[in-house]
Amino acid sequence: MEEKISQIQKEYLEEIQKAQSLKELDGIFLELFGKNGVVNKLSEEFPKVPKEERPKIGPLFNQIKSGLEKEIEDKREKIREAGYQKLDEEKLDFSKSTQIKPRKGRLHPVTKLEKEIVNLFTKLGFSQFSAPHIDSEEYNFELLNIPKGHPARDLWDTLYIDTHNLKATPGELLLRTHTSNAQVWIMRELKPPVRMMIIDRCFRYENLDARHEHTLDQFEIVYIDKGVSMANLQYLSEYFFKGILGADIKARLRPKYYPFVEPGAGVDGLCIFCKGKGCKVCGGMGWLELAGAGMIHPKVLENGGIDPSVYSGIAWGVGPERMAMLKYGVEDIRLFKSGDLKLYESI
Ligand code: DAH
Repeated sequence: MEEKISQIQKEYLEEIQKAQSLKELDGIFLELFGKNGVVNKLSEEFPKVPKEERPKIGPLFNQIKSGLEKEIEDKREKIREAGYQKLDEEKLDFSKSTQIKPRKGRLHPVTKLEKEIVNLFTKLGFSQFSAPHIDSEEYNFELLNIPKGHPARDLWDTLYIDTHNLKATPGELLLRTHTSNAQVWIMRELKPPVRMMIIDRCFRYENLDARHEHTLDQFEIVYIDKGVSMANLQYLSEYFFKGILGADIKARLRPKYYPFVEPGAGVDGLCIFCKGKGCKVCGGMGWLELAGAGMIHPKVLENGGIDPSVYSGIAWGVGPERMAMLKYGVEDIRLFKSGDLKLYESI
């Protein structure tokens, strides 16, 4: 037995010396001290040891057992230290990081265009106004001469807010479908003459396609004064299209129905691709509809506390994303909110 113990000691001391990694040492430890390990097996043999040898074998066994444990622990420490030293010797070369070209940030193409639009109208004395994104049916529809049940509401289907925790009647609050909700807010807050612009987010319950998004921007102007007429509308439309799409773009007004204007107009811009000849983009018409507009309906002026027999006004709404599609040749409106850096960097 004594010889067997010494043999085990010799064998495992060598193995510990040879070990190169902590993983190897863990293996040796298990072989020795695991449940079915060599040390346990040996202790099972004790009862067979003759009585007279036991006083010698017991202490020898314990001594060798703790000796091997210590050897393993010492070797572990050595390996760890060698690892730290290697890390110390490794130098990080920070000079290499300067070779990575920093990416330049830029404005989103629609933001860029919107800044241009705001600049253009600031020059004419228009100021920016903002109205709630979550608004009431009243401001989004009723005060704009679109009563409940009016078929025109189908044009602006939207998302309603769950009001059960709010002080509001069910169905009263909605995500505004257009910046036109700002019209009566403006009139109730300011006295004419009024020159206001709103450029902001709107929401619709839409069937999405290349030209329709559920979340979209609109640009709206509200101009109210004595003697404002359709002539101002024609002038501002052309000023806008020329300023954004190029000096050779004309504007034309075409009769169109919107409940909050009388008369109402679709505002077309000369097609920037064919310059009026007719092409695929404009469907052969030579013109593209870019905005909705008109003379503010007398009822809407009254709802805003303005006397329609003294003042008149024009209002006008356009989708900057649609204009950005034309200006930058982007075929799908959904790309603007896709986060696709390739598109943003190419513009
Ligand atoms: N709000 C309309 C829409 O979202 C656009 C519009 C039409 C705005 C006529 C106006 C207007 O100010 O006068 O489709």
